[in-house]
Amino acid sequence: METGAIPVITIDGPSASGKGTVAQIVAQKLAFHYLDSGALYRLVALIAIRSNTDSANESAITNIALHLDVNFDGSSVQLNDEDVSDAIRSEECSKLASVIAGQPKVRTALLQRQRAFRQLPGLVTDGRDMGSVVFPDASLKIFLTASAEERALRRYKQLIEKGINANIQSLLQDIYERDTRDSNRDAAPLKQEVDAKLLDTTSLSIEEAVNAVLRLYNKTCKN
Ligand code: DC
Repeated sequence: METGAIPVITIDGPSASGKGTVAQIVAQKLAFHYLDSGALYRLVALIAIRSNTDSANESAITNIALHLDVNFDGSSVQLNDEDVSDAIRSEECSKLASVIAGQPKVRTALLQRQRAFRQLPGLVTDGRDMGSVVFPDASLKIFLTASAEERALRRYKQLIEKGINANIQSLLQDIYERDTRDSNRDAAPLKQEVDAKLLDTTSLSIEEAVNAVLRLYNKTCKN
């Protein structure tokens, strides 16, 4: 079967918009595979931090991206058999991931790895350029967003629930900085594509957002 015939739902959007949670549940409901593309950028950042690699050295960072030994095991992320699911979510890693994601060679190095996730019966994936660059022929493209204030509040609640101290003003500042960097870079910037459907979840629950995606997908399948 041509890979192009395998359905893909892409959910792109800014940091902390909840797209990962929504994408994961949609994948479960459809029994599709799931790819968290941001985790790949975060993994490259984690290895760069641990190996003291200069983040401005694009060839060295690209080399890390080309040789990632990663395994997505259900909801956990394994790097050389170590569970790094929490480590890749640290603020330090989030910031560096956003910096190295602006490097075109790093993005190219991760391209085939992402496309390899397109397997039967289908794939749900989230990121910034899933619909524009990685899977331009996706069956359904969603641009999922929420206001910066709502996203900061969601992140704040997540951290507090985990017993981690957090300051909502500094989280909001981080979100503004990351949005600016992700949207203004030259390589595959974050933006809503003309063929992507906008889903603003500022006042939606996770369940409502999931149902909205499933409705759009069912409509696409019938067309
Ligand atoms: O989705 P996330 O917050 O886990 O992504 C981490 C960083 O990786 C984010 O700053 C943007 C970048 N990213 C990207 O440039 N392209 C993707 N497809 C996914 C993530």
